[in-house]
Parts: sequence; structure tokens; C-alpha cells
Amino acid sequence: MARLGVNVDHVATLRQARGGHEPDPITAATLVELAGADGVVVHLREDRRHIQDRDLTLLKEIVHIQLNLEMAADEAVAKMALSIKPDMVTLVPERRQELTTEGGLAVVERKDRIHEMIQLLHDGGIPVSLFIDPDQQQVRAAHKIQADSIELHTGRYANTRNSKDQQTEFEALEQAAKLGYKLGLGVNAGHGLTYHNVQRLTKIPEILEFNIGHSIISRAIFTGLETAVRDMKALLNPLR
Ligand code: PXP
Repeated sequence: MARLGVNVDHVATLRQARGGHEPDPITAATLVELAGADGVVVHLREDRRHIQDRDLTLLKEIVHIQLNLEMAADEAVAKMALSIKPDMVTLVPERRQELTTEGGLAVVERKDRIHEMIQLLHDGGIPVSLFIDPDQQQVRAAHKIQADSIELHTGRYANTRNSKDQQTEFEALEQAAKLGYKLGLGVNAGHGLTYHNVQRLTKIPEILEFNIGHSIISRAIFTGLETAVRDMKALLNPLR
């Protein structure tokens, strides 16, 4: 049964647009949990553009499902992670100008730096996942530097506009997932997934968990958050 982690950054983005206190991502996390999600995901960015330190502290208190903290390989944010102790950390690349996380982490190219960060987080008892493109070399490098799991970047798959390109990207995800599984890594996937494109990926049994934000929060505007989460969960587990 595939697990669902819901990214609530998008709720915080709306709050920050007015600089006030609503909508509160803490309320969103509670509803996400009630609706049957398996985890809450937040990205604490260096520029604090959406999730704030206060959010992370409160989430750690109130979330009883998996709390997955996405962060750049940055010492200051790592310090925060080590004091809050989320259930897991996902290391992601981060550039200030981007609208959202664009490519996967360059593990092959930045092996030493990322390995150091994994060790620092492991010393604090926090399991680490690496957000990578579905590329065999990146999967092998993640395994080599002792990541616990990988999150395969599904952005290219999500952006395809015809079935031939989608097939190519699907195969890349399938092969990367199989290799990760064979090497003993936990395999998750996320980015750009929607109610229309996610179901095909559930045919890859090695993917344990999908992390989805924008599409669920967008739908929640019209259906309410609990319905949006339940509908996504049903797509991930069609036989239930
Ligand atoms: N996984 C990672 C590592 C991400 O950076 C993001 C975007 O915050 C997501 C999943 C969720 O992406 P989306 O909001 O497009 O569903």
C-alpha cells in the first residue's frame, strides 16, 4: 500500500502573502492527519519564505504521523533540524530565485558535502532521504554515502505532454526505483504529481511513498482539505 505524505508549504505561502496568521499550516497538518495521510512534509527554506521556525516547533508537537523536513545541505537549517528532531530529513537543492525545487540533488558531484550532512543528521538520530533525479548514477551515489532512502524527482514525468515522453520518464523512474530497492534504500517519489498523473506510478511497487503538495492544496480550495487528501489516498490505493 503506497503511503501519502502531504506537503503543507503551500498553505504557509498563502499566509505569508498577507503576513498575518491565516491560513495556518498547523491547522492544515491536523486535518491532513485526520483525513488519513501517512505523513506531513514541510520545507524550511533558508529565506523562510513560507514555513517559519515556529511552524516546525508546533508541527513536532502536534503531528503524530511522520514529519518529514525538507532542507538544503546547510548548517544553520541542520542545527534547527537537530534541535526539533523530525522523523526524517529530505535533503534538497535550493536556490533563492526558484519558485519551487527545480532539479534533483547533485549527489555524484557533491558527494563529500552531502555525506558530511548525512553524518551530522545521523549523529542526531535522524534518518536521511536524498531528493534525486531518476538517474542510476545518482541512486548509486546516494547508497554509497549512506542515505537511508531516496525521493525520486517526478517533475520531468509530470511535465511531459505526450505519451511517448511520458513512457520515457516512467521507465527512468521505474529503473531508478528498482535499483534503489535492490540496494536496500527506501524509495519515495514526488514533485508535480496530480490527481491525473499519479496513478500510473503506483504500478511501480518499489515506490513506498508519494509526497504531494500543490495539487492537493489547490483542490482543497474547492473540496476542503480532508476530501482532497482522501481522494488522493484512494488514487494511490485503488483496490481498497
Ligand atoms: N518533494 C520535494 C522534495 C519537494 O521539494 C516538493 C515541493 O515542495 C514536493 C515533493 C511536492 O511537490 P508539489 O508541491 O509539486 O506536489
